[in-house]
Amino acid sequence: MAEQVKDNKMEKLVSLCKRRGFIFPSSEIYGGLSSCWDYGPLGVEMKRNIKDAWWQTIVQSRDDVVGLDTSILMHPRVWEASGHITGFSDPLVECKKCNLRFRADELKEQKCGTCGSPLSEPRQFNLMFKTFMGPVEDQAAVVYLRPETAQGIFVNFENVVASTRKKLPLGIAQQGKSFRNEITTGNFIFRSREFEQMELEFFVKPGTDMEWFDYWTNARLEWYKKLGIRPENLRLAPHAKEDLSHYARCCTDVEYQFPWNWGELEGIANRGDFDLKQHAKFSGKGLSYFDEESKETIIPYVIEPSAGVDRSMLAFLCDAYAEEPDKDEIRIVLHLHPAIAPVKVAALPLSKKETLTPLAQQIYSQLRQTWAAAYDDAQSIGRRYRRQDEIGTPYCVTIDFQSLEDKQVTIRERDSMQQIRVPITELKNVLASKLSF
Ligand code: GAP
Repeated sequence: MAEQVKDNKMEKLVSLCKRRGFIFPSSEIYGGLSSCWDYGPLGVEMKRNIKDAWWQTIVQSRDDVVGLDTSILMHPRVWEASGHITGFSDPLVECKKCNLRFRADELKEQKCGTCGSPLSEPRQFNLMFKTFMGPVEDQAAVVYLRPETAQGIFVNFENVVASTRKKLPLGIAQQGKSFRNEITTGNFIFRSREFEQMELEFFVKPGTDMEWFDYWTNARLEWYKKLGIRPENLRLAPHAKEDLSHYARCCTDVEYQFPWNWGELEGIANRGDFDLKQHAKFSGKGLSYFDEESKETIIPYVIEPSAGVDRSMLAFLCDAYAEEPDKDEIRIVLHLHPAIAPVKVAALPLSKKETLTPLAQQIYSQLRQTWAAAYDDAQSIGRRYRRQDEIGTPYCVTIDFQSLEDKQVTIRERDSMQQIRVPITELKNVLASKLSF
């Protein structure tokens, strides 16, 4: 059975995401827009939980990192300085017959994968989306949708240091949308043209950079494990020297074993002083740092852990998805870590009878003061447990007729399906100890 789950796991997951309101194709009623996705009512909660877990770990729990939220549209010179205008491109080839386009570096054969006809010579295709600022559509008005959030951090380095008076090492973190006009997309939300990143630029004294590189590589790997991804499905993949991006001194990817293959979740790069030097050169501002200890002016080096929100979400979903025997049937369950589960607890009255509703509603309104909670009184209790299992709700609270007498309710745990009876007065404390992460 395990093999079967593996075989068509993506299909099943995509179907679950649509059916239960995690992820929908963009503009679906118009036939969809290629490789753009909308997050539904449960998806938006889960995505927010992932971003919050990252923000809590990277920013709020540390004294040496601050947050930032910069605009998507930036001065076009930013992208000249960063190297994106000249270097952010993929080699593109086009079929001479059916005009389909492919990434030359991903092709196994030098002919069209669809009709078998010859292909054009490769040409460099820039991945940045262009638009115009203001009413005149001429070259002077061209701006780009940012292809990474990182540059918003580099151009604000001076502002952040001056306003926070922080000393090195100093990290600046940002989450937000990025856009890339990818030639090939696919595997659901793994590679899309509009996606979200969670990036940290950690500025350090030169000479301490490799220590920090190792530190962040381990810290990032541990973050995925702590949030429930099985260690055997994670690995580090260091880049060979010849595969490094133009800005990187070294880089290691955190990879996840997706149902189709290993794929990058996050890259951790040592960017040296490339970015601050480039922006100093292009802007004419001296983006340096005065080190009071050594009384020297230095250009900090940067360690960058750069993660994709959508890819993380896909990895969490893939890792959590299971089909398990339950009596004579198979139950579908998402074993999501409670921190990222979209609903933490569901209140389920055993019956819709009027006598139970007031107590069930009262318990529900108490629970939702603290947690993302759901209320469900439709169909049999077994079906309702299944519905909650399928969306990864860690706990269900069942209110039955005996609850009216003994003032107790049942907590049912998603993974073990075990049930315990607790006094209503203790319910929140018991759940709080189970849901502390
Ligand atoms: N600032 C460095 C940077 O952007 P990257 O390796 O190009 O590095 C970082 O991107 C992360 O952003 C990737 O590891 C991936 O998780 C995510 N990402 C990049 N392109 C993506 C795409 N087309 N769709 C979804 N996520 C993407």
